[in-house]
Amino acid sequence: MIAILGAGSLGRLWAATLPAGQVAFVPRPGQATEPVHFRFCPIRGVTRPVTVPWLQSRQTPSLLLVTTKAGDTLTALNANLPLIPTNTPVVLFQNGLGSQQHATEAWPDHPILAATTTEGANRPEADLTVHAGEGETWIGAMNASGEAHLAEVVRWLVQSGLNVHTESDILSRLWQKLVINAGINAFTAILNCQNGQLLEHTFFQQWIDPLCQEISQLLNSAGQPEQTPDTLRARIENVARKTAANTSSMLADVLAGRDTEIDFINGYLVRLGQQHGVDTQVNQMLTERVQHLK
Ligand SMILES: NC(=O)c1ccc[n+]([C@@H]2O[C@H](COP(=O)([O-])OP(=O)(O)OC[C@H]3O[C@@H](n4cnc5c(N)ncnc54)[C@H](OP(=O)(O)O)[C@@H]3O)[C@@H](O)[C@H]2O)c1
Repeated sequence: MIAILGAGSLGRLWAATLPAGQVAFVPRPGQATEPVHFRFCPIRGVTRPVTVPWLQSRQTPSLLLVTTKAGDTLTALNANLPLIPTNTPVVLFQNGLGSQQHATEAWPDHPILAATTTEGANRPEADLTVHAGEGETWIGAMNASGEAHLAEVVRWLVQSGLNVHTESDILSRLWQKLVINAGINAFTAILNCQNGQLLEHTFFQQWIDPLCQEISQLLNSAGQPEQTPDTLRARIENVARKTAANTSSMLADVLAGRDTEIDFINGYLVRLGQQHGVDTQVNQMLTERVQHLK
């Protein structure tokens, strides 16, 4: 049984694509036990109904997928990991950085893995989950016991038909995504624009170089491969052009009045700068501006 903690867009994508009968959502304490019914609209093929039961207290999952938002993850794990055997691998799907390291420190006895995915899923209606963009999912170990379960975890998840790969250095891959998110998401939320439009905004043009200087220094401080500010800017702008028509998840969260993951993207970079004595005024400014959008 694969348990999914976080019955939102990404959790439902995995629930709908993994073999029926092998998945269950993890309930909040005291949550109703009626199965979850929703419609799933795949990229190819027709919309179909999906039913997912809630994990029962007598069931022991062989794998736990954590698909909560970064800010909810520690609370969700605190409520559930004490009930899960210490040899059950736990895969963290959160965007950004910070929550993965916290979970790994807090639960050293559990095999912890992290994933980064470019799959896109959303819920235009409460009972409709749309697989909006096909992507790749990379999974790697956050601790030694996670490493021992990596191949097995990937074998389970490949059954979904999604593109799932093992990653020997998941932290670097999470960093690569963080760099792009740090250079796009906050700007799109502040400017209320799609990814491609931000390139034309003077606010973006004014701050992207000093932001990339900060990120370049932080990559060095974190022991990540060196990247010059110019390389970082080129990568960020390239992704913004390739995803020109996309609404970033941060802008979508702001527009829907939900909490954003800014504390795990630019906010993470601010905390890292404080630890390493790196000036992060631009990351700080972007973090505060997004925090005030709600
Ligand atoms: N969606 C995507 O395409 C996508 C792609 C790449 C990465 N990600 C990352 O994946 C993570 C999840 O994204 P998402 O879009 O799926 O978010 P989401 O739709 O908001 O789903 C999160 C789910 O977690 C549930 N949850 C929160 N706290 C919980 C708790 N203590 N116990 C049980 N469930 C709890 C929420 O329930 P309530 O709604 O009831 O609060 C919600 O259903 C984020 O870090 C995101 O950046 C998502």
